[in-house]
Amino acid sequence: MKLAFIGVGKVGFALANNLQQKGHQVIIAHDDTDSESVVSAQQKNSAFTALPVQKAIEEAEIIFLATPFRASESILKPLNFNGKTLIDCTNPVGAGISHGLASKISGAEKVQAWAPTAQVVKSYSIYGYENLENPSFPSYDIKPAMLIAGNDTASKQQVTQLNSDLGFETVDIGDLSQALHLEHMTLLWVKMVRADGHHPNFTWAYLER
Ligand SMILES: NC(=O)c1ccc[n+]([C@@H]2O[C@H](COP(=O)([O-])OP(=O)(O)OC[C@H]3O[C@@H](n4cnc5c(N)ncnc54)[C@H](OP(=O)(O)O)[C@@H]3O)[C@@H](O)[C@H]2O)c1
Repeated sequence: MKLAFIGVGKVGFALANNLQQKGHQVIIAHDDTDSESVVSAQQKNSAFTALPVQKAIEEAEIIFLATPFRASESILKPLNFNGKTLIDCTNPVGAGISHGLASKISGAEKVQAWAPTAQVVKSYSIYGYENLENPSFPSYDIKPAMLIAGNDTASKQQVTQLNSDLGFETVDIGDLSQALHLEHMTLLWVKMVRADGHHPNFTWAYLER
């Protein structure tokens, strides 16, 4: 599939690079092609192309948002997604590893409000980029879980396919309002790893009996 990435820093590049190696076409969506992260991403993977953001959205089938949460409103408001899937990888993180919107509403619902022409699915948000660079756990007979939330079934099916290509087992936790709980899961992972010293390659798994 043709995938556009708004943001190719640690998260965007890890996902783009792995998905390109699985056969997807990657377009970097950035209005500043001299940006350090854009230049670095293209040096590391010469198969990436780059286009201005709105043009990249028109070319792509699925768009990833992997920019700082605080930049989301100004990035998204001018854009027309024409009903396409927008994967929200962002996290609103506040001081002291708190929820950046005081847990009143999820960042994903704000992203949906700023991009009303998109079908937003929250995914790839609950782990650090290390698990997006390498989601394989060869010593286990089970895949790492990727919890997703969104309002549109067809968009969630697209994301489920990408998860599968990357090696994650999708757990669909419901509509976009559920993303608030994902954002709290993120805070737990960040606290455990970045503050308390747990290994950055740990993930959650979904076991059901
Ligand atoms: N780091 C993690 O482990 C992790 C894990 C899961 C989710 N997340 C979330 O994912 C998002 C990205 O995190 P990251 O660690 O990948 O950040 P990062 O390494 O700092 O990369 C940010 C990317 O966003 C671009 N960007 C920043 N401001 C922009 C703007 N106004 N317009 C267009 N592009 C802009 C940057 O481009 P320039 O180089 O041009 O500035 C860069 O490509 C954040 O919301 C974060 O909370 C992070």
